[in-house]
Amino acid sequence: MQTAQLKIGSPITRIDGRLKVTGEARYASDTPLGDPAYAVLATSAIARGRITDIDETEARAVPGVLDILTHRNIGGAVKKTKLFSDGGYVGTTIMPLGSDQVWHDGQIVAVVLAETFEAASDAAGRLVVRYAAEEPAAGFDSAGATTVAAKDVSKTHEDPEVGDAAAAFAAAPVKIDAGYSTPTQHHNPIELFTTSCAWSDGKLTVWESSQNVTGFKNGLAEQLGIEPDKIRVISRYIGGAFGSRGSLTQRTALIAVAAKRLDRPVKLVASRKQGFTIATYRAETRHRIKLAAGQDGKLQSLTHIGWEVTSRPDNYMVSGTDASTRLYACPNVASKVSIVHADRNTPGFMRSPPEVPYLFAIESAMDELAVALDMDPVELRRRNDTQNEPIKGLPYTSRALMPCFDHAAQAFGWDKRSPKPGSMRDGDWLIGWGCAATMYPTQVGPAAARVTLFPHGAVKVQTAAHDIGTGAYTVVALTAADRLGVGIDRITVELGDSDLPPAPVAGGSNTTASVCNVVAKACEQIRVQIAAAAVAAPDGKFAGAAPAQLVLADWSLKGPGGAAEPLDEAIARASNGAIEAYAENVPHGVPPEGLKKLYQGHAALAGGAKMKDRIQFAFGAEFVEVRVHARTREIRTPRIVGAFAAGKIVDPVTAESQLMGGMIWGISSAPHEATEIDRRAARYTNTDLAEYLIPVNADIDRTQVIFVAEDDRQVNELGIKGLGELGNVGTNAAVANAVYHATGVRIRDLPIRLEKLLNAPAIKL
Ligand code: MOS
Repeated sequence: MQTAQLKIGSPITRIDGRLKVTGEARYASDTPLGDPAYAVLATSAIARGRITDIDETEARAVPGVLDILTHRNIGGAVKKTKLFSDGGYVGTTIMPLGSDQVWHDGQIVAVVLAETFEAASDAAGRLVVRYAAEEPAAGFDSAGATTVAAKDVSKTHEDPEVGDAAAAFAAAPVKIDAGYSTPTQHHNPIELFTTSCAWSDGKLTVWESSQNVTGFKNGLAEQLGIEPDKIRVISRYIGGAFGSRGSLTQRTALIAVAAKRLDRPVKLVASRKQGFTIATYRAETRHRIKLAAGQDGKLQSLTHIGWEVTSRPDNYMVSGTDASTRLYACPNVASKVSIVHADRNTPGFMRSPPEVPYLFAIESAMDELAVALDMDPVELRRRNDTQNEPIKGLPYTSRALMPCFDHAAQAFGWDKRSPKPGSMRDGDWLIGWGCAATMYPTQVGPAAARVTLFPHGAVKVQTAAHDIGTGAYTVVALTAADRLGVGIDRITVELGDSDLPPAPVAGGSNTTASVCNVVAKACEQIRVQIAAAAVAAPDGKFAGAAPAQLVLADWSLKGPGGAAEPLDEAIARASNGAIEAYAENVPHGVPPEGLKKLYQGHAALAGGAKMKDRIQFAFGAEFVEVRVHARTREIRTPRIVGAFAAGKIVDPVTAESQLMGGMIWGISSAPHEATEIDRRAARYTNTDLAEYLIPVNADIDRTQVIFVAEDDRQVNELGIKGLGELGNVGTNAAVANAVYHATGVRIRDLPIRLEKLLNAPAIKL
């Protein structure tokens, strides 16, 4: 049966949905390994100091225990490699089992290997680790924490500035000068951090949920001192990632070493609690924002100073001033980012890493400025809208911020808002309406893909991209269906395997743009081959046509004047078997070594504010209704409307799902989400899903996603901007601004918990 042919832009549910809901989708730790040994991690009970002794007697006596790895027996087995953000692959340079040194609480201090998970767990609990502990610094304001300027320790960081922000601030009539903060947060993907490793004939296979299989392959090769082609990393389905699986954690190499020592496959499933310290997380941040405007609302000065907590040895930073200083027109801008080293594990990417904390600060401050000016916050954004970023004057390839505000405002009913705080009420519930802008860099990287068209029209697409739950399988299939003119049910997509043609890390919302463009390119090579054979054929059906005039559509080859022939006949004329195409694509702005970097598994993304000739971002506007109970201060968010302009939308169903998911994360994160820290011990305390607050269905009521049409062929041939991270960038500020409107209390420190609203002047019982 031939099904209808779908196009890029057709709304379809995800093609891997059935496999996922029936349990047929096989996640990394579901992979049968024959007769594996089971690994359980033991982690440090101190945050700073040295291991003085490990008594293994009782642990080794547990029946079924095979081996215990510690720094004493495998100390040099894993080589130190560079941090992802310094051009390496790992998310931390802290080397567990590399020495006796403890850098943070919950650092891996031993790997216990046993015949069963139960025996390994039992033995891990019986290890007696003794320490020489030192006083740890937990983060900001801790004795012993040290602060350095980002630009002193990073080759790529810039502190955007233009004009004279201090003088303009001093001279301006209306000013805001305020501090903001965001807490430590952890990704908490539902799929735990797991690794399975097996060696065979000197080749290592790793099954691990990964956003970067090609990077993991190359990074592991460096760590283990072997050739990359001896390693295969498989990650077909991913139970949540959000950035936590983009850089290589140190556990993978340890499990590879364990499998080699035992000469047997080894499987690790780390606990939820361990996931807080053996992987990365979102760094705690602080901000000082100074805004100054004329009475007309036009910004005259903008200053954004940011601080971020990191580990002792790693200069990890997100430094979101790249975006926050470019959101509005302003002649005088200053910024500076600093990082604060403490005795913590190294933070890393977490959904929209730079923009989430930095836009919370700037978009809260913009709301405060609107209040100070007695101006509608949407109008304030309109007066400061621009098509050129203010620092260098580079043009946005496209920017539909105000159309997004207008569409969302209308759908929300913003014109019915009474601006005075506390003036909208429904019985005991105070109603607050707030809004904020959202933005995310449009990034595209080099990618490769192989597309095979079989004689009867079946198609196989292969690329080592990743579907982190976003719908990558589906958008890749839609692209091939569109370009080869076949039904989507005839398309098989293979992703998440480092043996496939490489694709970038599934980070920075680049996958749809990077991968669909290269898949389209491979399909085009196939079309050209078929078309060339058709115009050269003696039967004359396409005689006189140029190959460029022939298209593959609706299971046919079609040409000028209504000429058409069935696809299988066209294929048979071009080839006596399948037609295979291998394509590589290097987008605009990628340096010449980008293609080589792709094969090495390095991110070579171009876009955002990092280009020389232009600037490319996707934009949106989010409007939130909060309800605060006048007596209990309970905070609810019954309604959110977001409008987004993100170029071509390949599949409106999966795109809506991404944006909705981002907004849901945001409206739950703003009032709830934080990793709590026992500051004396520099230890996370709410390390499970009972105490780390995430949304449930009862928290979410009405959500609406609006797509604002945008045609931008500068960003890439298909006009795709990417939107996986766009949805939750503005939400925290929109909620905080709505809470201010409801209560008159400006909450500048996330999360917005009800105890912060106890002394609310606008609340009258
Ligand atoms: Mo995303 S935090 O760029 O995986």
